[in-house]
Amino acid sequence: MSSKSKIQEYDLKYIWHPFTQMKEYQKESPIVIEDSDGIYLIDSDGNKYIDGVSSLWVNIHGHKSEKINSAIKNQIDKIAHSTLLGVTNPSASILAKKLIDISPPGLKKVFYSGDGASAVEVAIKMAFQYWMIKGRSEKKKFVCLEDGYHGDTLGAVSVGGIDIFHSTFDPLLFESIKISSYDSTDKVLKDLKKVFIEKGSEIAGFIMEPYVQAAGGMKVATDGYLNTVRSLCDEYEVLLILDEVATGFGRTGKMFACEHDNITPDIMVLGKGLTGGYLPLSATITTQNIFDTFLGEYDELKTFFHGHSYSGNPLSCAAAIANLEIFESENTLEKLQKNILFFENELKEFKGLKSVSSIRNKGLMAGIDLVKNPENNQKYEIKDRIGKKVCDAALKEGVLLRPLGDTIVLMPPISINESEIKKLTKVTYKAIKDVTENNV
Ligand SMILES: Cc1ncc(COP(=O)(O)O)c(C=O)c1O
Repeated sequence: MSSKSKIQEYDLKYIWHPFTQMKEYQKESPIVIEDSDGIYLIDSDGNKYIDGVSSLWVNIHGHKSEKINSAIKNQIDKIAHSTLLGVTNPSASILAKKLIDISPPGLKKVFYSGDGASAVEVAIKMAFQYWMIKGRSEKKKFVCLEDGYHGDTLGAVSVGGIDIFHSTFDPLLFESIKISSYDSTDKVLKDLKKVFIEKGSEIAGFIMEPYVQAAGGMKVATDGYLNTVRSLCDEYEVLLILDEVATGFGRTGKMFACEHDNITPDIMVLGKGLTGGYLPLSATITTQNIFDTFLGEYDELKTFFHGHSYSGNPLSCAAAIANLEIFESENTLEKLQKNILFFENELKEFKGLKSVSSIRNKGLMAGIDLVKNPENNQKYEIKDRIGKKVCDAALKEGVLLRPLGDTIVLMPPISINESEIKKLTKVTYKAIKDVTENNV
């Protein structure tokens, strides 16, 4: 594309894009996505791309779903928004019931926010205030994992562990206790126990992404370890906060990743796929016990003083209800199992590529690590921009991806079918080969 369209001009002139080095971005002509069809995105020139990362991990059943579209349209003909402060609305109520019905047993109350990071803030503040009300004000620290990611607001960053994103903001953060990352699940459990033994009486909560540390590089934990995490938290009276923002809604093959081990967290955080990827909405779901702790006379000041203007927004909630109805009416989770096996089989092919040092997946969440020299595991330098180059090459062949450094991420909508998986993996394979072996 030589001359820029008005949309591109306005974009380059007025928009500051998230997680983007704008100097680099401004040299390019941005692709303008203006239409969609199932798992495909369509740009302003009519080119179609597989949405290989579900529009940043949000899309579940594909784009332009008739059911979700019509739920939003029906809702907007009634009311777009009313507050959840002191009054309610049908969509927020019905969705809350549906969420509790599908949540792990014991989770009973839904607190709505707008995005994943806000729902994480809610979880942190809820856990903190819970112990305050209980008269255990010494319990105010949070334990989290290296390479963990929970969003970009300051509370979420305080319990995050990705230095490249977070270290700049260190002086602004509250102190948290970081333990080792998923690279060795055994070590996580050992470190967790050690920290709980030494400091358990000061710890309010432990927050982690169950099974997949997504933004931290698609790191996958060993089967069964959440059971031990749950028992350690019980033993040392630490609230377990599971951040299912990326893993929720079928991505790992179960509705929620914690179902792989049949455990119930004290607080579960949902976002991204909650509305099927259509509108912003998140939820912090907790137990009757935590909820009841906040009950009291108004002047006791036990109220959870936290809220957002668009909490429980009816349009978002209507989309989320339709999203959950599709899971039921189309047996999404059942159908998904076959496609996960197919996907895993396709991923094995990548072992044949010289630059691929590791391939990991849980369900339809996958990460493929690229290294410069596989013999001594020599990494590419940041300036090599290898992940970006691979994604640029895939784009030319009709697949839109977004890397995490030198890790190529594949996380398509879970409605993807076998032939689409084939295209996604074939194009990615060729892009890696061309960029890392053929210097194309
Ligand atoms: C596990 C996890 N938690 C929280 C967030 C933050 O969500 P949001 O970008 O909606 O604020 C993300 C986003 O990638 C995430 O992966």
